[in-house]
Amino acid sequence: MKTSNNTILITGGGSGIGFEIAKLFSQNGNKIIITGRNEERLQKAAARLENTTAIAADITSEEDVHQLVEKIKQDFPELNVLINNAGNASYYSLVTPEINAYEKAAEEMDTNFLSVIRLTEKLLPVLKAQESAAVVTVSSIVAFAPRKELSSYGASKAALHSYSQSLRLALEKTSGVKVFELMPPLVNTEFSKEIGGENGIAPEVVAEDLFKAFEEDTYEIHVGNTANIYKLFLSSPQMALEAMNQ
Ligand SMILES: NC(=O)c1ccc[n+]([C@@H]2O[C@H](COP(=O)([O-])OP(=O)(O)OC[C@H]3O[C@@H](n4cnc5c(N)ncnc54)[C@H](OP(=O)(O)O)[C@@H]3O)[C@@H](O)[C@H]2O)c1
Repeated sequence: MKTSNNTILITGGGSGIGFEIAKLFSQNGNKIIITGRNEERLQKAAARLENTTAIAADITSEEDVHQLVEKIKQDFPELNVLINNAGNASYYSLVTPEINAYEKAAEEMDTNFLSVIRLTEKLLPVLKAQESAAVVTVSSIVAFAPRKELSSYGASKAALHSYSQSLRLALEKTSGVKVFELMPPLVNTEFSKEIGGENGIAPEVVAEDLFKAFEEDTYEIHVGNTANIYKLFLSSPQMALEAMNQ
């Protein structure tokens, strides 16, 4: 996949991993569009980057997604890369009384999984019309083995992993759209504060690994410790589960 002269939509591009991806790709001659719900933060982020446009949108809102897709078709018909990075997580114990695990799981499934399917489906005609195109999903190390305090988050990322594999197979037979899955371990962002994110890797490393994966056409990207957990998972799923829950 080429690493310059792309037009790239990054959901959740106003902070954390998405922002670092926007920064790295904008510095390398790509046009960037970032989305998020917090318009003020999004505009501030875009102002710090070259060649970047901010469009506020909640990816769980059908109406927002409709408007976003219409705006892309009108203003950026050359869009050739979609990076599904926006995500959220709830950190909770399944045995805490009245924790409302259903609500938390529903929100995570909607943001991390169902919304990705809707946005990707709506943008596929635009992507397919380009000579070279890619969809990127951002799942997680927990797609291979869950952490018990991130049970429904892990389930949403496992579902996204399964979807990414299927989408890759479906598209390689029918189009030139490549499907990359970025699988970070613990990363030091706002998102991971509650779960000891300060011990995680820098979000810049995740962006650099995606950039390298584009250069090399590596479709499943096991960033940092994800590579170790993956190896362990292949030899013993039980040991991978124990390692994630030490
Ligand atoms: N940090 C980690 O340890 C880690 C590890 C593995 C995978 N990941 C994954 O990496 C991705 C990025 O996370 P991050 O660590 O960079 O966290 P982050 O800084 O909190 O970024 C998440 C971004 O998603 C956006 N977002 C959330 N819900 C949204 C919605 N409904 N509509 C539109 N945008 C929405 C947020 O913007 P608004 O709030 O403005 O909407 C924010 O910009 C996520 O998919 C996460 O699951 C993170």
